[in-house]
Amino acid sequence: MLHRVDGDLYMEQVSLTEIAEQHGTPTYIYSETAIRSAYEAFDSAFATHPHTVCYAVKACSNISILQLLAELGAGFDIVSGGELTRVLRAGGEARRVVFSGVGKQNWEIEYALTSGIGCLNIESASELQRVASIAAAKQLRAPVSVRVNPDVDPKTHPYIATGLKENKFGVSATEALAMYQQAAKDPWLDIVGIDCHIGSQITELEPFLDALRKLLELCDELESQGIEINHLDLGGGLGVRYRDEEPLDTESFAAAITQSMSGRPQSLLFEPGRIIVANAGLLLTRVNTLKSNEDRNFAVIDAAMNDLIRPALYGAWQEVTPVHEHDQDRKSWDIVGPVCETGDFLAKDREICLEENDLLAILSAGAYGFVMSSNYNSRGRAAEILVTGSEHRCIRRRETIEDQLALESLRRQ
Ligand code: LLP
Repeated sequence: MLHRVDGDLYMEQVSLTEIAEQHGTPTYIYSETAIRSAYEAFDSAFATHPHTVCYAVKACSNISILQLLAELGAGFDIVSGGELTRVLRAGGEARRVVFSGVGKQNWEIEYALTSGIGCLNIESASELQRVASIAAAKQLRAPVSVRVNPDVDPKTHPYIATGLKENKFGVSATEALAMYQQAAKDPWLDIVGIDCHIGSQITELEPFLDALRKLLELCDELESQGIEINHLDLGGGLGVRYRDEEPLDTESFAAAITQSMSGRPQSLLFEPGRIIVANAGLLLTRVNTLKSNEDRNFAVIDAAMNDLIRPALYGAWQEVTPVHEHDQDRKSWDIVGPVCETGDFLAKDREICLEENDLLAILSAGAYGFVMSSNYNSRGRAAEILVTGSEHRCIRRRETIEDQLALESLRRQ
């Protein structure tokens, strides 16, 4: 969806320079066409097996984007009451929502049940108890699945691996079995599925197949005890290309998974986030100051770690490209923000031609970009723009200092 016209970068038919002039920087920009095709590619790859694609809201939760996905037929994976409100506001249906997370609060469980949620992914025996008693108090049956921690190595960054037994997520298959037996006896609990999510930015097939194998073993055991399972939730976690990663091919991923499911009546559920939005979004920023010392060249831009924390937090690599290409000498630049921390870098050692006031696009920033931004250094969060063909629309205005101060008060007038 990104291309150049006379050396200038465009997303779909919209010039990024024009967006910068109209809306300022730093600004997140998303391509509707890219989101649509990523969703459709994943969904259609599973056409031969009954399935639901529950977009992981946490990856990018702007209500315009949720609305687009709801219109495409997506369900949603949420991890908080706040995300549920977003989904409902965007026109999503509660019965197509699954609720994950190790620390759901009572009000969130109650809110999910009264909204008619599709499934609560239960992560501990204690949570199962709590859901049962809230359901009984509300006289509402709770649809549940247990999140199994299959103890497989997803071979990804340790901060985003979730399916190893050293991680806080889910319960062992043995504990899950006991929880299902408990749930089966409870008149307020409705067992609907088995759940897992083993990590994020995974580029190998084997961990997914290992996890599915463990889920199927548990499923067989449960069915032999008369406990019926409607769906198997494989979570999200498919990786994308930021630099030179070799992401899984969706078609072969789907072929391998559906083959393991052949002859089984259970439907499949997925919770993809990153593959739907990562490469559909970028962060547009302007170079503020260039400075050099004997060692390094620094380009100080108007975006910072508060806008995009992935490089600082995970050492993540994001492609940086000038919006207008120059022909002058290339130099190696560290692209840094104005925040008072050495960890405030967006990229290091990038060979590009730069001048002050140039616009830069930080690519693959659609997932875990805006949603992880903060007000650190009292910086207002960036604006968000959705591009559709030759149109663009502001889907979140830039935050002002007054927006921040509206929540605070002086200790005395
Ligand atoms: N389901 C559950 C239960 C999850 O915890 C996650 C992500 C997903 C689905 C979606 O995973 P995806 O398809 O997007 O990989 N901030 C990190 C990623 C954290 C992922 C957390 N859980 C990053 O920027 O790389």
